[in-house]
Amino acid sequence: MTTYGRFDDAAREYVISRPDTPLPWINYLGSEQYFGIISNTAGGYSFYRDARLRRLTRYRYNNVPPDVGGRYLYLRDQDSGEFWSPSWQPVRADLDDYRCRHGLGYTVIGGRRAGIDAESLYAVPLGETLEVWRTRLTNHRPGTAHLSLFSAVEFCLWDAWDDATNFQRNLSTGEVEVADDVIYHTTEYRERRNHFAYFACSAPLAGFDTQRDAFLGPYRGWDRPAVVETGRSTGSIAHGWAPCGSHQVALTLEPGEVRDVVFVLGYAENPADAKFDPPGSGRVDKRAVRRVLDRYLQPGEVEAAVERLRDQWRDLLDTLRVATPLDHVDRMVNIWNPYQCMVTFNLSRSASSFESGIGRGMGFRDSNQDLLGFVHMVPERARERILDIAATQLPDGGAFHQYQPLTKTGNDAAGTGFNDDPQWLVLAVTAYVKETGDRGILDEPVPYANVPGSETPLYEHLHRALGYTLDRLGPHGLPLIGRADWNDCLNLNCFSETPGESFQTTENRTGGVAESVFIGGLFTLAAGEAAALAAHLGQHDDASRWRAAARAMDAAVRAHGWDGAWFRRAYDYDGHPVGSAGNEEGRIYIEPQGMCVIAGIGLDDGKAAAALDSVAAELATPHGIMLLQPAYTRYHVELGEISTYPPGYKENAGVFCHTNPWVVIAETLVGRGDRALDYHLRTNPSAREGISDVHRCEPYVYAQMIAGRDAPTHGEAKNSWLTGAAAWNLIAITQWILGIRPDHDGLRIDPCLPAEWPGFSATRQFRGATYDITVTKLPGEQGRVSHLVVDGRRIEGTLVPPAPAGSTVSVVAEIEAPG
Ligand code: GLC
Ligand code: GLC
Repeated sequence: MTTYGRFDDAAREYVISRPDTPLPWINYLGSEQYFGIISNTAGGYSFYRDARLRRLTRYRYNNVPPDVGGRYLYLRDQDSGEFWSPSWQPVRADLDDYRCRHGLGYTVIGGRRAGIDAESLYAVPLGETLEVWRTRLTNHRPGTAHLSLFSAVEFCLWDAWDDATNFQRNLSTGEVEVADDVIYHTTEYRERRNHFAYFACSAPLAGFDTQRDAFLGPYRGWDRPAVVETGRSTGSIAHGWAPCGSHQVALTLEPGEVRDVVFVLGYAENPADAKFDPPGSGRVDKRAVRRVLDRYLQPGEVEAAVERLRDQWRDLLDTLRVATPLDHVDRMVNIWNPYQCMVTFNLSRSASSFESGIGRGMGFRDSNQDLLGFVHMVPERARERILDIAATQLPDGGAFHQYQPLTKTGNDAAGTGFNDDPQWLVLAVTAYVKETGDRGILDEPVPYANVPGSETPLYEHLHRALGYTLDRLGPHGLPLIGRADWNDCLNLNCFSETPGESFQTTENRTGGVAESVFIGGLFTLAAGEAAALAAHLGQHDDASRWRAAARAMDAAVRAHGWDGAWFRRAYDYDGHPVGSAGNEEGRIYIEPQGMCVIAGIGLDDGKAAAALDSVAAELATPHGIMLLQPAYTRYHVELGEISTYPPGYKENAGVFCHTNPWVVIAETLVGRGDRALDYHLRTNPSAREGISDVHRCEPYVYAQMIAGRDAPTHGEAKNSWLTGAAAWNLIAITQWILGIRPDHDGLRIDPCLPAEWPGFSATRQFRGATYDITVTKLPGEQGRVSHLVVDGRRIEGTLVPPAPAGSTVSVVAEIEAPG
């Protein structure tokens, strides 16, 4: 609890109690095709499937005041002329009471002023391509209130990039239609678009506007629209310039009277040959929309839609529920972390308050990792995603670094030749098969580079992924890094001297020998996982080939990747070590310490524990573990973008949260539960709620980055929501600290708990059966489980065999003291 808000775990909501949070604290609406971002003051925007190519509403990035553009409402007292926004923005008139409840897939924002309470519930109903806002007005005055309620959205002209840049054209293309009080945004519908947006209101209208400048008036912003100030809509019809949608509703409320008004903003498509009604008229065929509106303009339907969302989330979250001694762990694992995993799964890195929605599509590396935190919730969607991603793999086993969600085809807009990419596919596929037991996916025909006719079984894609790395080994037998590996900013072949040039897409120098120890670790892990899968399938030749490849890479990492007290990071273009005690700056990096240990490298000879002790000594801060030390203080042309950030930010020694759970997992592998949990809590957003003035981002989701020790703002988070920190934290806590881990032959229960915990309990659904799990231990010990009691029967080891679907299994595990 802070001055900004608190968790309401029973309601699965975060409750914000003042509007001026340090940054906009956002939520997401929609999880299928129609999505929206919504801040605690109703800022944000909506889109259909693709944040760039099908943007419904406009948003002003990097604006002052921040977070301008949204789902705005204005209330005007027709007697006094006073007006305000019940969500505070955009008018920012003081409210007597303000609250925002961000829930799972919906948001409620309410405010009271001058005795009038207005609370809006925003949601995207399941199965629909629209959003509903239900505004409930209550008159707490002793007398009758005469009010006008105005709505306002600004339409985006579909392609958000063009919309923000190509004014010579798009200031002349905007069009709308208004029919039966519904506002239709129809820009470019006259020509090649078959889709349009609509904005409707349940109440009879006193007026409307669709031309932004008529609504706002000259030289005015959304905080003081002329129409709201005067209380009279103008009935404007947008021709060019900036189409908007605004309804005016006149309301007379008696004392104590409550009134609901519903707004529906939606997206619709018509068949290309049946766009107009009547045919050839140039007017949008609105019949399908009318049917949807008849339904959703009813207040009861909005409540029902939100109930369905709640039911859906209850079911999704039932997949895994835990009860541990710590609220910070429970609420993240039971509510917010899986929710964030759903959002990252859906949106990759495309649309947040830090991702503009115009830059990046679905990342190959990112989406494969996002899937790891999602697969247990909706395996069917994970399956579909795997097949989509694999279809963008290149014939040589490499990958398009991203693909656009609307077309599902790969592109090189964000660069190519990131040599870690293919291995993440192996990890995603093996995680999927372990979770579901669905081996059939491996036989699915999947093309390369989306070229029809090039299909092979998915299994062959794994072969090629592993082969890609083996075909590209450097002089130390370590993988060549290519453009970069997981760390986009370690650009060892780039040598960029041109200001502003993109490190991700610029032409690379050839002929060097830059190798990545990190990919060495990642490959060892992936080849081991592939070998286990092959063994499980009875493909023994593949299993032994891949096991041998993993062993060889492990040996190369030990021989050439070990620096004496930690794993090196890489070798540069000329073969000099990076992340080595001999370097002046960047002597130690986090990524290879986490990944090599996860791959099992050095567990048997003390290197793993030594590397992790170096992490503790050199990289750990109270705000999380920094990516490297010492930070780069000058530009290193041979290292690239990593040295462009000021010390302490992003990849240059920021706490890059994605990597912290790797170290948490690694600590559990060397048996140190105390340290694993301690590290986890340093970046756990709930555990940081009390320092919201320092952390600044939302306390209910992980952020990509927390400023490192070298930064003046040490502890300040940025880039919340869309980060691999979501999936990896869920895995680190649930699969490694709590130790509940799907495996090919069953569900493994192998926790590594902090000494003081007395144990925990959990319920996990796995392949249709429900496992009630109790883990006990004596306080003060950090041992492991050696046997289980499953439905009363003792089983040696830590693997619970799969139970028939529909059954409930009781599992009791006792952690024994070491030795
Ligand atoms: C960003 C990218 C991710 C990359 C990371 C480190 O989070 O989305 O792909 O691994 O930065 O550079
Ligand atoms: C920048 C960021 C990195 C991100 C990349 C995406 O390099 O520092 O985090 O992954 O851009 O292109």
